[in-house]
Amino acid sequence: MAERKRLVACNWKMNGLRADGVALGRDIAARAREPHRCELLVCPPATLLVLVGEALGDSGVALGGQDCHTEPKGACTGGVSAEMLKDAGCSHVIVGHSERRHACGETDADVRAKTLAAWRAGLVAIVCVGETRVEREAGLAKSVVEAQLTGSLPDAANPENLVIAYEPVWAIGTGLTPTMADIADMHAAIRTRIPSETRILYGGSVNPKNAAEILALEEVDGALVGGASLKPEDLWAITQAAG
Ligand code: PGA
Repeated sequence: MAERKRLVACNWKMNGLRADGVALGRDIAARAREPHRCELLVCPPATLLVLVGEALGDSGVALGGQDCHTEPKGACTGGVSAEMLKDAGCSHVIVGHSERRHACGETDADVRAKTLAAWRAGLVAIVCVGETRVEREAGLAKSVVEAQLTGSLPDAANPENLVIAYEPVWAIGTGLTPTMADIADMHAAIRTRIPSETRILYGGSVNPKNAAEILALEEVDGALVGGASLKPEDLWAITQAAG
């Protein structure tokens, strides 16, 4: 069976103006030209996609969007379609991030439609799932994540067009992480619900201190990194841990 190549995906969220986005992109590109064994993906804000794509150049670091609309074009003020992301140089798009599920009210059906839109444009969809603290404390973490997978994944999912990111909502940006046993347990549960060989990333307060331990877990195929991905030294330490 082919080994699943590790993926470190950077989610810059709503951070970066032109000058710092380009500087960070150049820094990541320079480091990525040094030996490393995982794939790297940078997801900047939409306004920076083209500029960061140019900064990444031929470094081999992929470019991704943080969200996409379901329609290819039309009357949707403020929307960015998957086709537009593709045109800007993207190969991937994050869909169903908890900040969109919770702050923007996105449902599993919306995430499923966005996943289909990503595929229509030829993008790999990184579908995010994860439970809230209340759900975990109520013992519902696995059933919540399983329901999200069932509702969000179209039938045509395969390891080439899909990456799953397990991100416990309560671990995002908080410095908190589940126990290693809990991460391993959830990833093993997700593994039984998705096409074999599909990569499963862990996300939620990944940093240079915890990356090696998390990335050593059997079913963890990489990381979706928010805050630490804005700090080149930290990102590179995580990348080395993934190698
Ligand atoms: P964090 O964010 O690494 O800052 O916790 C992860 C994410 O939201 O994807």
